[in-house]
Amino acid sequence: MNTEILNINPKKIDYKKINLAAKVIKNKGLVAFPTETVYGLGANALDPCAVSKIFITKGRPQDNPLIVHIADKSDLIKYVTSIPRKARKIIDKFWPGPITLVFKKKPVIPDIVTCGLNSVAIRMPINKIALSLIKASGVPIAAPSANLSGKPSTTCANHVLDDLDGKIDMIIDGGEVDVGIESTVLSLVDNPVLLRSGKISVEEIEQVIGKIEIHNGAIGNLSVNQKVLSPGMKYKHYSPLAKVILVTGDNSKDKINKISKKYIASGKKVLVILSKKYKKDKLAHILFDLFRKADKEKIDIILIEEVSSDGIGLAIMNRIKRAISKTI
Ligand code: TXA
Ligand code: MG
Repeated sequence: MNTEILNINPKKIDYKKINLAAKVIKNKGLVAFPTETVYGLGANALDPCAVSKIFITKGRPQDNPLIVHIADKSDLIKYVTSIPRKARKIIDKFWPGPITLVFKKKPVIPDIVTCGLNSVAIRMPINKIALSLIKASGVPIAAPSANLSGKPSTTCANHVLDDLDGKIDMIIDGGEVDVGIESTVLSLVDNPVLLRSGKISVEEIEQVIGKIEIHNGAIGNLSVNQKVLSPGMKYKHYSPLAKVILVTGDNSKDKINKISKKYIASGKKVLVILSKKYKKDKLAHILFDLFRKADKEKIDIILIEEVSSDGIGLAIMNRIKRAISKTI
């Protein structure tokens, strides 16, 4: 298949091009498009046939449900049985934006989207291209991150091309994303539980709805027997080909110096990421790009410094922990 690339300037949207992309969605096709977090691989969420292509194309496990993207808050009630008071508060504060909420689903959402769960994850993105595409399509858009399963999420159109060229109908190139890591996922089916950490931090959420439970998968790796609330968290994602080593402690820089010399002396190609020299938002923005560049340059070892787990640091450490082979 020939993958068509549409360049769209997010500051000056070309609606003719958006309509072309919407046509692909309406015709059961797959369109990769930018959101503020990462690029998404979109299909008509109400069409099981279209949605099945997402799973096949990504090589995505059949038990990992998709997020449904909407362009209007008032559409939410079409897809969920009720909107709890706490959900309403989160929506008022953070939508449109990088937080996904899990609700009890209505039957109109096909089982293939939720992998048979009776809940559905919904998000209203703030990216103008994403919003225009959803509106023009006239349907909600199911979209996981636009990467091959097991690869880091994509933060620009070139990343999407590297993974999906020739496999999908269209890519909207809307430039680099803003955040660089995926949305926060919060379940509101029962008491609030953080299922995935993201740009919207625990601190910010708790300011709005009080104390929330934090599922282990939102922090680090799940142990094998742990109950999986958010199926996506049990897979080792975000993994570059290189061996990733997390370096901890106050003397992390010295440790990295020493270890990198050792590896280089033994003929290995090493990438050092001195996390602490970046502002956290900046580190989140470049992390997946660094992982992907390391693959391209056939890096053997990535040495990455730990950051503190406040704010977006929790999400950064979660993504790093799911890529590492060892901690020093
Ligand atoms: O930022 C994002 O969320 C991006 C952009 C494209 O919106 N999308 C994204 O989708 O990261 P994906 O498929 O890579 O991750 C979706 C996460 C997975 O961890 C999945 O298990 C969880 O959301 N999820 C989806 N539906 C769920 C449900 N009904 N209950 C619990 N977790 C769910
Ligand atoms: Mg993903």
